[in-house]
Amino acid sequence: MTDRPFSAEEIDTSRPHPARMYDYYLGGKDNYEVDREAAEQVIKLVADAPASARANRAFMHRAVRTVVSGGIRQIIDIGTGIPTSPNTHEVAREIDPEVKVAYVDNDPIVSVHAGAKLTNTGNTGFVLADLRDPQAILDHEVIRGLIDFDQPVALMLISVVHFVTHEEDPVGIIATLSEAFPAGSALIVTHATADLRRQEHGDARNVYKSATVPLTTRTQQEVEGLFRDFDLVEPGVVQLPLWRPDGPQPTEYELERVHIYGGAGYKK
Ligand SMILES: C[S@@+](CC[C@H](N)C(=O)[O-])C[C@H]1O[C@@H](n2cnc3c(N)ncnc32)[C@H](O)[C@@H]1O
Repeated sequence: MTDRPFSAEEIDTSRPHPARMYDYYLGGKDNYEVDREAAEQVIKLVADAPASARANRAFMHRAVRTVVSGGIRQIIDIGTGIPTSPNTHEVAREIDPEVKVAYVDNDPIVSVHAGAKLTNTGNTGFVLADLRDPQAILDHEVIRGLIDFDQPVALMLISVVHFVTHEEDPVGIIATLSEAFPAGSALIVTHATADLRRQEHGDARNVYKSATVPLTTRTQQEVEGLFRDFDLVEPGVVQLPLWRPDGPQPTEYELERVHIYGGAGYKK
């Protein structure tokens, strides 16, 4: 199942896009010169952007395993990005091959790649839609066809809420989405922060602002506030490597390099 796929000619390659910049941080090949230039500017300012991106993927794997091990069998992954294996459905299906995953992103290039890689597996779907219009996501036929709103849902917002400004009301957006889900549903969030190095992040934000879409970093407290209707699981909202690490606790050196918070919670 997929939304109308865009053709390559419809992709705007004159301006950088967050999905393709992120693909570049992860060492992917689905990016253009404009994206690489903007990403390199960010890397110059915040040399740890690629380390943060890798830690973000690793957190995503741990969090998906946590909620699927806890019994959730359907996931809506908004701001999914250009497919990077293992994707959400691949991680979830290591635990149960029947898990349903609806992917959502507002970037046509993600739609093109998702059409090729994410929607040919059964029990997955892709929707080209914007997080800032949550009702349109909930009403979309692909979502309605895939997700049973009487059963718990895991809502994944992995490195996407920082593209929503304070004025666009991320708490309200999450409330609109979560109101459609029963108690016991999960929320998983990762979010860029400037708590660690304010000056560099101020400069990096300017790259996103002038090049693509504004990046709004948030404090730990502000990220915790996104979980208003959810009970956070241990250890709460923390720097990504500190969240239920698979191996030993991260070193100070590792922590200094990751400027993203993450957390997960269950709907009250
Ligand atoms: C940094 S990437 C994160 C990709 C993936 N979630 C991960 O963490 O590996 C951010 C993604 O969010 C998408 N995005 C940004 N703003 C969005 C919005 N308002 N609605 C939906 N998707 C959005 C971008 O197109 C991009 O694919």
